[in-house]
Amino acid sequence: MAVVKKILIVGSGAREHAIARALQRSPQNPDLVGLGTNVNPGLMQLCRVFEVGKITDAETVVNFARENAVNLAIIGPEAPLESGVADALWQAGIPTVGPRQKLAQIETSKAFARELLTKRNIPACPGYEIFQSMNGVAAYLAELGDDYVVKADGLTGGKGVKVAGEHLLSHDEALAYAEDLLATAGQFVIEEKLVGEEFSLMSFSDGETLRHMPPVQDHKRAYEGDTGPNTGGMGSYSDANGTLPFLTETDIRQAQQFNEHTAAALKEEFRQPYQGILYGGFMVTSQGVKLIEYNARFGDPEAMNVLALLETDFVSICQAIADRNLAQLEVTFSPLATVCKYAVPRGYPVKPVKGQIIDVKTVDQQDQLYFASVEAEGKILKEAGSRTVAAVGMAADLAAAEQQAEAMISAIQGPLFHRRDIGTQELVQKRIDHMRILRGNE
Ligand code: AMP
Ligand code: GLY
Repeated sequence: MAVVKKILIVGSGAREHAIARALQRSPQNPDLVGLGTNVNPGLMQLCRVFEVGKITDAETVVNFARENAVNLAIIGPEAPLESGVADALWQAGIPTVGPRQKLAQIETSKAFARELLTKRNIPACPGYEIFQSMNGVAAYLAELGDDYVVKADGLTGGKGVKVAGEHLLSHDEALAYAEDLLATAGQFVIEEKLVGEEFSLMSFSDGETLRHMPPVQDHKRAYEGDTGPNTGGMGSYSDANGTLPFLTETDIRQAQQFNEHTAAALKEEFRQPYQGILYGGFMVTSQGVKLIEYNARFGDPEAMNVLALLETDFVSICQAIADRNLAQLEVTFSPLATVCKYAVPRGYPVKPVKGQIIDVKTVDQQDQLYFASVEAEGKILKEAGSRTVAAVGMAADLAAAEQQAEAMISAIQGPLFHRRDIGTQELVQKRIDHMRILRGNE
């Protein structure tokens, strides 16, 4: 008889709720256990055992895995990857989806990522320089003029990047920010500001073979029309047949190749396979596709789009990543379009309300809702201060998927808001027009 798969999910956001749903759809009927930073009511329902603990502490995670006799683990967020949780799980004999600490540097150090690509001749980077002192900073800014970006080197939860013309309005402001980064981290990156449209392309990787997911576009700004402060991502969409309306087939192939070459470069660099999800954050520009950053995990919200479409048994994919035989497995996605929208607390991200009651029972398609920063007190759900609940619409075209997502998200009761414009014809057309102008096809 086949051994029952006992799978550990590390993390407790909507991304991990989506991971749990995808695993649960498997005909292998896996037994799921979860360790997270907060009590996610959606995840709790899907896991036989769910506990809150310090997920960045390798010993805590390994002990929890051993107590529950798990034989496979998947790590959702980046912080445990950075602290070496994958290494510790492998050492304890538990096959793990999520790269080891050194390989996760592709996300945890922007300087490392840029240098690796340059060293291996992967032509994805904008112009950049890495600084460990203020020497040469003013001169490099002068060379870039008004088109520069100043980036913290390490993990900052998306808050370490400042873009000229948006967050930095003069070279003096850029110099002051660089001084701050030097004082706090000792290293930072300045790079050429790219102009174009962003998209995410994620790949399953066993170290040698990559299986690509459909491209997705996230929306970082809090308010409609791409205004307001940056957030973790307010929503995302993917178009039918694994496309995005502003990308060409060549653009998608280019991004896939960058992921393939980067996984190979990591293997050569460390003599270890990159086993997990490789997430390229790209910008398509008038000069083709360029890399903004790499992440070593699923995107949130992008995971909700792609995992909803996944047709192949996700348990088999995770096992193939761990066993390094992804080459034997065909991975397919449904050809539908998806739109994911997040409901977030009023005041998010600057001064979110917390502890207010929300009601999701008003939504018909409960299995298309994903819980994130929610606290449950018995049957009562409360906002915990960050992105709260996501809804995913899935249909033959974007317009229908958008209507589904909009109907679900606006049915949720409570002091929340969401971006009505994500996935709408009007906003998507703006992306298309933007790229048409940049590519000179007006
Ligand atoms: P990151 O944390 O590297 O993804 O950066 C956060 C955001 O800053 C990205 O989603 C982009 O919108 C912007 N950004 C980062 N690098 C660049 C760049 N070189 N040019 C233009 N925008 C950038
Ligand atoms: N969607 C952005 C991220 O997951 O980093």
